Amino acid sequence: MMHRIKLFAAFLLTFSVLFVGLPVRAAAPDPVRGRSAMVASQHELASRIGADIMRKGGNAVDAAIAVGLALAVVYPEAGNIGGGGFMLIRRADGKAFAIDYREMAPKAAGRDIFVNKDGELIRGEGGSQIGYRASGVPGTMAGFDLAFKKYGSGKIKWADIVDPARRLAVNGYVLSHRLASLLIGYKEHLAKYPDSNRIFLNNGKYFKEGDLFKQPELGATLARIQKLGAKEFYTGETARMIAADMKANNGLITLEDLKNYVAKDREPLRGTYRGHEIITMPPPSSGGIVMLQILNMLEGFDVKAMGHNSSAELHLYTEASRRAFADRAEYMADPDFADVPTAMLTNKAYATRRITGFDPKKAFASSNTRPGNVTGGEGTETTHYTVVDPAGTIVSNTYTINDLYGSRVTAKGTGVLLNDEMDDFAARPGKPNLFGLIQGERNKVEGGKRPLSSMTPTIVMRKDGKPWFAVGARGGPRIISAVMQTVINVIDFEMNIQQAIDAPRIHHQWLPDEIYWEQFGISADTRNIMTSYGHAFNERPGNIASATGIMIDKEGVRLGAIDSRSDGAAVGY
Ligand code: GLY
Repeated sequence: MMHRIKLFAAFLLTFSVLFVGLPVRAAAPDPVRGRSAMVASQHELASRIGADIMRKGGNAVDAAIAVGLALAVVYPEAGNIGGGGFMLIRRADGKAFAIDYREMAPKAAGRDIFVNKDGELIRGEGGSQIGYRASGVPGTMAGFDLAFKKYGSGKIKWADIVDPARRLAVNGYVLSHRLASLLIGYKEHLAKYPDSNRIFLNNGKYFKEGDLFKQPELGATLARIQKLGAKEFYTGETARMIAADMKANNGLITLEDLKNYVAKDREPLRGTYRGHEIITMPPPSSGGIVMLQILNMLEGFDVKAMGHNSSAELHLYTEASRRAFADRAEYMADPDFADVPTAMLTNKAYATRRITGFDPKKAFASSNTRPGNVTGGEGTETTHYTVVDPAGTIVSNTYTINDLYGSRVTAKGTGVLLNDEMDDFAARPGKPNLFGLIQGERNKVEGGKRPLSSMTPTIVMRKDGKPWFAVGARGGPRIISAVMQTVINVIDFEMNIQQAIDAPRIHHQWLPDEIYWEQFGISADTRNIMTSYGHAFNERPGNIASATGIMIDKEGVRLGAIDSRSDGAAVGY
């Protein structure tokens, strides 16, 4: 009898620990823990390199540069030195900085450069997505240079930051199944460009999982940059090779364009959600404004009471997104070329007006949704990584060559894959781009201008003002939805960073008027209810972006998370 009582007591204890004593959890692995520092990126080798830089005394900015250079080698579909992006930095002293190293249109580019004489978009070579004319002047090296000089620790030499990436390119690394098959998947266009064909397709013989993948030209380019500094990319042999290849192939980027490229140190965009400060990216990314607009609209509703991914909540997300993306199309662009009413668009009173008319049981057709009356005032692409150092500096960095493998052009002799960021301009204002996004006149092509982006590197603070988590994503305009839903999952649903990133999500971008959703992510019942409200679901469900992030718990432990939708690793110590 005594034995049975003991067994019963043991059962009760186990039951209470398993089901009562622990918080209710979304299904996700535990985040990776580090007591001092953490790097979360989409490739383990790159994350390890970042962690090593911090172990040697570098700060999060030094580490972020080393990670970015390493990803250019081990994650060539999006990691780059031939593209551009945004680096958000928050130091432990509370100061925050937003480095804009978005590509700039070559001087010779103009409004109708991608339209033929019949007014149709030029497809393939010569268009905004494939080939030599698709590239903006790359900003990555200038952005990293600015970050290093202004915000680096000063304890690690530039040459030591570049060296790990250079060695990876020269010595090679073992190709994963994912990268080997992805390269073959993109052979159609990569094969058209001789250096891309040789480097990435093994001259048509292709690479397979387990092969040692070396990139000697990229290694030589990195060696020049290591020795001569980032300016080598813009004024040295690398610049001359890029400009010569452009000239030989009807491209537009000249030596002058490269020399004139400037990275900008911008004021970060700040907003709040339910009392938490949110620091994010200002234009030329639309990401920060659109996310804050949506969050501002949601703040007037008890999202938690609706229930996570309930029809009520997803309907509200959709309606708020529809309105914010309509504003994106009209108002957002490079602020150095167009008036962007950022303050007004991120104003809480404006959001309240914008969501007025929301019907909890009825979709509001996009054809009836015009951009708001403002007064007074991008798939599967891109890559995001996050770094937190022992002193508490946070770097949230998103950079890209736009489409996977960018324009598919590797500039002759350099090993550098060039971006197709010109497609983020409104190639035909009012008509859809690669992501089906409609954009307006403000974002038309102009020489020297930066195309509008959706990249949303973000840092969220606790109510006591201490940093809480940093997150960002890849995936064109879906980035905004992924980051926004991660923020809500943490703040409203009290998820940890891994749960918040892994949870199923949706995306709506005004036009086309349909909800993008993830297979098995939303129940058929929920979809049926939303369909009865008048929503249409995209016929081909697929992943909505992929995110990486780091949370800092109350004891200061760094918790790293990689989206289970993608590869990568969080490495901490
Ligand atoms: N090229 C994707 C973005 O900038 O949003």
